[in-house]
Amino acid sequence: MTKKILIADDEKNMIWAMKRALKNEDYKIITASDGKEAVEKFKKEDPDLILLDLRMPEMNGMEALREIKKEDSKIPVIMITAHGTMESAIEAMKIGALDYISKPFEIEELKVQIRKALDIGDMTKQIEFLTEELREKTGKVIIGDSDKIKKVLEIVNRVAKSNATVLITGESGTGKELIANAIHYNSDRADKPYVKVNCGALPENLLESELFGHEKGAFTGAVARKLGRFERADGGTIFLDEVGEISLPMQVKLLRVLQEKELERVGGTETIKVDVRIVAATNKDLKKMTEEGSFREDLYYRLNVIPIELPPLSERREDIPQLIEYFLEKYCREIGRSKMKLSKEALDIFLNYRWKGNIRELENVIERLAILCEGDIIEKNDLPRELVYENNKNTEFILPKEGINLEEVEKNLIQQALEMSDYNQTKAAKLLGITRHTLIYRMDKYNISGNKKDI
Ligand SMILES: Nc1ncnc2c1ncn2[C@@H]1O[C@H](COP(=O)(O)OP(=O)(O)OP(=O)(O)O)[C@@H](O)[C@H]1O
Ligand SMILES: [Mg+2]
Repeated sequence: MTKKILIADDEKNMIWAMKRALKNEDYKIITASDGKEAVEKFKKEDPDLILLDLRMPEMNGMEALREIKKEDSKIPVIMITAHGTMESAIEAMKIGALDYISKPFEIEELKVQIRKALDIGDMTKQIEFLTEELREKTGKVIIGDSDKIKKVLEIVNRVAKSNATVLITGESGTGKELIANAIHYNSDRADKPYVKVNCGALPENLLESELFGHEKGAFTGAVARKLGRFERADGGTIFLDEVGEISLPMQVKLLRVLQEKELERVGGTETIKVDVRIVAATNKDLKKMTEEGSFREDLYYRLNVIPIELPPLSERREDIPQLIEYFLEKYCREIGRSKMKLSKEALDIFLNYRWKGNIRELENVIERLAILCEGDIIEKNDLPRELVYENNKNTEFILPKEGINLEEVEKNLIQQALEMSDYNQTKAAKLLGITRHTLIYRMDKYNISGNKKDI
């Protein structure tokens, strides 16, 4: 990607000379002729590197450097100093300048310094990104301070150090995997293997050899011995995601590992002992499944030693502002754009939306906004249609461009309300927000029968 360099110097000749020197490099050069302009251009253009002359009118280089570093402490800045201003150069480096170059300088020297500073800038970004990724992977960033999430985190802290089996339940996107990660990485097994299996993603026979491994020749295609995930997790933790998807025959086999801590590879006779901590997750109601007979009761009790229930986002709306803030910061940084904010109106819509896909849905909406929204303030109009639509749904239908036939729509809504309420006129009137009298009047007007059988 072409790097953007901001050069600030009040001497036109100097800027001209530097531009010429860098002409053949793949850089986009932006210029400023005083400190104030430099700060403005920095905010507007978000450059990768700044070359800042120390002595400039309006605002000198040192003050500009202070302003810039206040906004972005990581941006590499090279100070350009006149010969013999060593002290200022050192002061600038204390404030956060990466390096300095004294006038007059050789072009090659300038080029090398620029290259080095850009590399350092890249590495800083990379380190930030990796640190963040690591924090996420290890479940160190769990946003929210609602009572509900605090209770969850308390349980996590208490059980992480034990070897007890944990069953995490909750709707899709509520953070089950994040909690599982937090349990492993806060346990004494943190530096041992952490193996994840998505039990819903594999057909039964594959899942069996995936979990327990197989011997060479166990089935067609088993050309070599393969260790199962349980064996690979030995000493550490196995995360059985979507455990509610496991078939009944597989449930029997899983129960055995949980009870006896031993298994046989597919096609094998040797009994293998494993020391594995089990964390399972599901968005299914396992209790109900045991009643219906699709999940073994004994396995359910073995898994449900420590239950952790993650509340849907709609039950902890007070965490929404923090989550928005966190994801905005994350995605703006990731795509390298300046920090965005939600307008008051947009925030209200976020706070009232039902978030059926929970935190994952919220995260996706923010990621999309960070990529697509042009301004730094996210307005109601920038929001995905479904958010706005739901917000309006009780008061405002969105009129299609081609228009509608109001009477037809009214008639249709009355019919729907009657059907929904099983032709109970009082209930139907309530659904429409009108009195029963008005309903009867309109049914008459549109010739709508009040009797189910007449239709
Ligand atoms: N409290 C939280 N703080 C920050 N990020 C969160 C939080 N909860 C969930 N997330 C993020 O939301 C996304 C969905 O979380 P996760 O994958 O853990 O959900 P899940 O419950 O396993 O969903 P599914 O049932 O669909 O597999 C992830 O990107 C995760 O990092
Ligand atoms: Mg998951």
